[in-house]
Amino acid sequence: MKTSWTLKKYYFIICILLILQHVYSNKIINGLEEEVKKSEFPNGFLFGTSTSAYQVEGAYIEDGRSLSNWDTYCHINGVIPNGGSGDIADDHYHRYLEDIDLMASLGVNAYRFSISWSRILPRGKLGHVNPAGIKFYNNIIDSLLLKGIIPFVTIHHYDYPQEFEDRFQAWLSPLMQEEFVHFAEICFKSFGNRVKYWATLNEPNLYMEMAYLKGVFPPSHCSPPFGKCSYGNSDIEPLLVVHNSILAHAKAVKIYRDQFQEKQGGTIGMVASAYMYKPMTDNEADNKATNRALAFRVAWLLDPLVYGDYPIEMRHYLGTKLPIFNGEEKILIKNSTDFIGLNHYTTYFAKDCLNSNCTCMESDVLCTHGENRAIRGYVLITGQKDGAYIGDQMGMPGLYVVPQGMEDIVDYVNKRYNNLPIFVTENGYASNENQEGYDMDQDRKRIKYHKAYLASLARSIRNGADVRGYFVWSLMDNFEWRFGYTVKFGLYHVDPFSLNRSPKLSAHWFRDFLTNTTLNNIQAKSTI
Ligand code: BGC
Repeated sequence: MKTSWTLKKYYFIICILLILQHVYSNKIINGLEEEVKKSEFPNGFLFGTSTSAYQVEGAYIEDGRSLSNWDTYCHINGVIPNGGSGDIADDHYHRYLEDIDLMASLGVNAYRFSISWSRILPRGKLGHVNPAGIKFYNNIIDSLLLKGIIPFVTIHHYDYPQEFEDRFQAWLSPLMQEEFVHFAEICFKSFGNRVKYWATLNEPNLYMEMAYLKGVFPPSHCSPPFGKCSYGNSDIEPLLVVHNSILAHAKAVKIYRDQFQEKQGGTIGMVASAYMYKPMTDNEADNKATNRALAFRVAWLLDPLVYGDYPIEMRHYLGTKLPIFNGEEKILIKNSTDFIGLNHYTTYFAKDCLNSNCTCMESDVLCTHGENRAIRGYVLITGQKDGAYIGDQMGMPGLYVVPQGMEDIVDYVNKRYNNLPIFVTENGYASNENQEGYDMDQDRKRIKYHKAYLASLARSIRNGADVRGYFVWSLMDNFEWRFGYTVKFGLYHVDPFSLNRSPKLSAHWFRDFLTNTTLNNIQAKSTI
């Protein structure tokens, strides 16, 4: 009798333990309840916020700035929701001091921002260097340094003088390489005595897709079945754009290394859009498709910078369509990056289209009708499987919360590129609350997102990756490209009328994370 009671007791305890383990591991798997501490990151790690010139500056025709491709695009009626544009944006051009104070109050030690090409070189190589533009960025850099915040500068983040488009079709032409090198050199000369972190280009591997494959960014080039544009060739142009971008990057890096690096003591790299992919099923074809997805999106840009040529899978499937680097160019581009910048937001399923039929589901906002073509690597990329999403949907169509993806993409990049230093140059949660207010529930999801993604990043560091920084996208709500002001990523809310900035709960969370206080305190402290 006694034995059977003891057995029952043991049985009961084991059941409880199993239940607890199940609950705990589910939380880990969903990745939404993870705690993470700053102390899990190495000494000297950069924790910052990120923005880009066109998305925050405004002042689009002030002090000698010329019109950019994005000004022209946004001014076409109807392309951006509610007639949105970066004409005023967050008016950072006039409020940068206040914004730097916000950063200082968060306790970040770095800030990633980009330089408006039209502000510095309104006519590119054909014209003068605009002193007002130089002064503006000098002011930003000096003010950051005064507050102990390290400037991390992206030279080019999507916006360039419209004149380049009109004169020679911008990134479609090799002339853009020379324009970029000139621009970069002016930046090294003017700011390099104080800027120690340079990213040449932001995400040519995303820009090519938006601007030249789907045609939803300027200059709106595309062709069927990818979209209906008045001009373009989605099978070819994206390849030329990335090719010119890689050469432009490598030429600028060469100048930096030959003429500035030793004196100025900085480091230079490139920023890639780095989504992660998971096989749609565990069959071999989908596993191979996942590797192709990574090759056709991430390695497309990074293999040339490290190994001097495009990934073998791309050559195999694209044949002579894929441009060729000549011998001299291969030498130039090989090892042309000191670090890899990763912008990571989400993870998708990858499904093979070589052996099976791929057609987009109507409900799939992400699908582009063209997956079964070479330029897409014969892979269908989707956020859905059997009617369920890969993770909770964010407020921007096509973004899902999949924290494990951070560890996976960093592991992939770390292994493929022999432990090169990595910076996570963007990571952020999109919400779509209405313009005036801000929705605390959505912002709580933002906090969970950052905690879970940071915990995932910490795991990749424990796995051996040399990760040196993490930048939240974004410091404040701003102009979100084709979604205008309808999608928000900011830690700070920006009132659309007064442009006043106010901290969201997530701003308090980030500050407390950086200063090692607890989330419970911030909920009590928050006044908004
Ligand atoms: C871009 C940012 C953009 C963010 C969110 C990134 O790919 O670099 O400019 O705001 O995605 O869409």
